[in-house]
Amino acid sequence: MCGIVGYIGKQEASPLLLEGLKRLEYRGYDSAGVAVLTEKELKLKKHKGRVTELAKHVSGNSLSGNLGICHTRWATHGAVTEENAHPHVSFDGKIAMVHNGVIENYLSIKKFLEGEGYSFYSETDSEVFCNLIAYHYAKEDSESETRFPDSVRRTLKHIEGTYGIAVICADHPTELVGARKGSPLIVGIGPDEYLLASDVSAIIRRTSNVVYLNDGEIVSLKNGELNLLTNDEEILTPEIKTIDWDIAESELGDYEHYMLKEIFEQSGALENAMRGRFSDDMSTAKFGGLNTTAQELRQIDRILLCACGTAWHACLVGEYLIERFARIPVEVEYASEFRYRNAPLDKNTLVLVISQSGETIDTLAALRESKRKGYKTLAINNSVGSTIARESDGGIYQHAGPEIGVASTKAFTSQLHILSMLALYLGRLRDMSFQDGLEYVAALKQAPELVTETVKLSDQILEISKKYKDMTDCLFLGRQDMFPIALEGALKLKEISYIHAEGYPAAEMKHGPIALISAECPVIVLATQPDIHEKLVSNIQEVKARGAPVIAIANRSNPLPKEIADDQILIPDCHRAVLPILASIPTQLLSYHIANLRGCDVDKPRNLAKSVTVE
Ligand code: F6R
Repeated sequence: MCGIVGYIGKQEASPLLLEGLKRLEYRGYDSAGVAVLTEKELKLKKHKGRVTELAKHVSGNSLSGNLGICHTRWATHGAVTEENAHPHVSFDGKIAMVHNGVIENYLSIKKFLEGEGYSFYSETDSEVFCNLIAYHYAKEDSESETRFPDSVRRTLKHIEGTYGIAVICADHPTELVGARKGSPLIVGIGPDEYLLASDVSAIIRRTSNVVYLNDGEIVSLKNGELNLLTNDEEILTPEIKTIDWDIAESELGDYEHYMLKEIFEQSGALENAMRGRFSDDMSTAKFGGLNTTAQELRQIDRILLCACGTAWHACLVGEYLIERFARIPVEVEYASEFRYRNAPLDKNTLVLVISQSGETIDTLAALRESKRKGYKTLAINNSVGSTIARESDGGIYQHAGPEIGVASTKAFTSQLHILSMLALYLGRLRDMSFQDGLEYVAALKQAPELVTETVKLSDQILEISKKYKDMTDCLFLGRQDMFPIALEGALKLKEISYIHAEGYPAAEMKHGPIALISAECPVIVLATQPDIHEKLVSNIQEVKARGAPVIAIANRSNPLPKEIADDQILIPDCHRAVLPILASIPTQLLSYHIANLRGCDVDKPRNLAKSVTVE
């Protein structure tokens, strides 16, 4: 949901800003812009389209200077146009600002400013925000050393909504100001330079020392100094953290797309999720960051799993895993629904949120609401230092490495693996036997090897994809723990190939969706569970009888008869705790190959952004 970068130092700002911005494109990519400030002037370039397009227009020395801000946009207010692109510049030309977030009261502010003689060139809430800073700036004491940050601070008191901002002022060519509420912002500290950014990927090439801003904090970077204070003027001591990030992990290498690279990285991601997380006797898992005792966890009598999108599908699998292996009742909620629903929860309820980015605003809001009500909260999260990681009572880091492709793949299967480990851990605190624990651990440890085998199906799946790439609709069917995998398969296909796809519990199909079944609507069936195999075969017969082509994902040891499966993808046999992971890989590869064959931009699908930091 928009990426921002700011730079102040001794280097040319614009190449560094654009380099950082390219790494934030997963946050939005419909338009981009950069502003650079020198003693003499404020220079600006904006462009509709991707950062590479903008870079072509920032040639030579046209944007020379050591202080600048830039932005890649995911439109919220106003169409995708150059006028609506950031940075926005105030009516009087003094203030330039980039903004990630949504300002809820911008219409009333706009009306007020219009009454004061201000006029606007864009449809955005951000331009209004920028002008309110200019308004307050004009009113501040012109002799004051802190006139510029004071004007930002004063403005924030009137702003309702969310923001991560980087601001420059034409009168202050040696000062960069940032602030956050609800949208992420970090300060990177390099030798003789500071950077502001939406996340570490934008700055990691220059420094691994960062300060994470908290909501309600504002930072001024000037003359080699970092001044951090709250909106209420309380001066804070910045806490500098060192980021442990292997830069090579975020490079494309020999792969054509990040999504394919990340599908192939899943085996390693599972290894990382398990590292150091088994007990010495190997019959259970252990987690360092739960910040809760085994005794407290034994008292939990209900778990609420809460997330958005693909992470919500991981929650649905988690429900099966935890109920099956730990025998604790689980409920799953969309974070965006939970936060506005006054759901009655028992005091012994544990709220577990799942988020790859750790910045999804609805998941964060659900976490905050749960904490406000006094529930114990945990998070499964892939981004060290993210807001969700910092605000939950305890958590489990995924260590899956950076996920750059907008469609989540390795983060999803790594979440499933951690949920399996958690089910084991909770199960062993209750009824699961030592022997069952040993078998379970052995199965989890075998998972990376089985994933490596499963991704080798890519070439076969490419051939199948060629047959189905022109379909316009399709159904994914599965039962029990394969139902969320059906939902996830459908989501993956629709988001990157733009083919209409639905996921359904296989037996539920005859209560409505069966009306859609025809020769033009292929059905992808997850036929992997031995205990309900016969029931699923009946569901497939119902599909076949209505002429739909069937692509089956089944176990090697239990393939479907050729008469009912037009195409079949056979995955290795495995323990039930690992099955959802293996079954999801063919759906990822099918989506990837189909989207690629259709010429879609696999890593940056239209209208999407990886980190959804607006409601
Ligand atoms: C789909 C996808 C999204 C995310 C969702 C939550 O491929 O990636 O549905 O899963 O936006 O994101 P996180 O996990 O960062 O909270």
